[in-house]
Amino acid sequence: MLAIHHRSGSFSDKWIEYCILNKVPYKLVDCYRSDIVEQIKNCDGLMWHWAHYDHKAVLFARQLIYSLEKMGKKVFPNAHTSWHYDDKVGQKYLLEAVAAPLVPSYVFYDKREALDWAKKTTYPKVFKLRGGAGSQNVQIVLNLLAANKLINKAFGGGFNAFNRRYFLTERLGQFRRDKTVTSFFNIGKGLGRLFIPTKQEKYFSRERNYIYFQEFIPENNFDIRINVIGNRAFGFKRMVRQGDFRASGSGKLIHDPNQIPIDCLQIALDLSVRIQSQSIAFDFVFNSGKPLLVEVSYCFPPRFYLLCPGYWNERLEWIGGPFTPEYFIIKDFLMQSDTI
Ligand SMILES: Nc1ncnc2c1ncn2[C@@H]1O[C@H](COP(=O)(O)OP(=O)(O)O)[C@@H](O)[C@H]1O
Ligand SMILES: [Mg+2]
Repeated sequence: MLAIHHRSGSFSDKWIEYCILNKVPYKLVDCYRSDIVEQIKNCDGLMWHWAHYDHKAVLFARQLIYSLEKMGKKVFPNAHTSWHYDDKVGQKYLLEAVAAPLVPSYVFYDKREALDWAKKTTYPKVFKLRGGAGSQNVQIVLNLLAANKLINKAFGGGFNAFNRRYFLTERLGQFRRDKTVTSFFNIGKGLGRLFIPTKQEKYFSRERNYIYFQEFIPENNFDIRINVIGNRAFGFKRMVRQGDFRASGSGKLIHDPNQIPIDCLQIALDLSVRIQSQSIAFDFVFNSGKPLLVEVSYCFPPRFYLLCPGYWNERLEWIGGPFTPEYFIIKDFLMQSDTI
């Protein structure tokens, strides 16, 4: 028996559909209930697509996963797949450890050390919080003055885990793109956000007492995102926002497989094995044509992949036609847990 925690709009929509279509016995469980271990007792595995913006999940998802694995249960995402999720600092260590081509990255836990480094290094650099998506916590640092300001803030009051100004700039961008009445009124909401704390802000603690920088890799007007689920790779190109260096969250996706460099696919398939990941997305930028990783993530909004015209297998053979990534995940999961 397979246990699924259902959240509408997440991977579980398709997992449940798959179980129904293929007569896979499953039961719905509630991971937030105190008796979750009891709920899983008669099941062989648990599948739960939890998200970084879910403050409750962030409090205990990893702890639950490790504990269920101790019981011999299969879990999606398992520990290998999820421990570094929404944690760019964790990913820095992981990617260095597996000798991945990570953009040179620097982390400091001491203000003095960070200030000394900032004095000696070159600019621009990229500053990131360890968490966040859609580029909201990623910014360019043009000079020592800007770096010092960020360092003082990081070791002072800290940063909101969710960027308020982002809501406004994203909505302005949306309006510029589609000029609809709805997107015009959304600007108002974005303005409101500048003054009213978001719900997430109340639930997440401030990001402080560390600072994370990466080398800025110039002249990238897109990034490449490759997802690997088991031995399948698929992805897209994402164009940067107008007048910006950041692609993530721009919504400008190109699904043409001919625009995906083969070396990105190779690196992604190889690292997925080394990281022992069930599902992983890699974001690449390019330094004179050489792919460099900026971050990884175990999950993604399923709608991004609807327009992918196919995927590659581990031999880099192209398998054309629409596919459902959530089915790949559940198929692999059921294969690994032969008792279900
Ligand atoms: N070191 C870097 N040099 C140049 N561009 C970068 C660098 N890091 C990130 N970017 C750009 O910024 C975007 C957001 O960065 P990323 O680390 O992927 O954060 P997020 O979690 O918000 O997606 C990327 O899609 C890429 O276009
Ligand atoms: Mg990204």
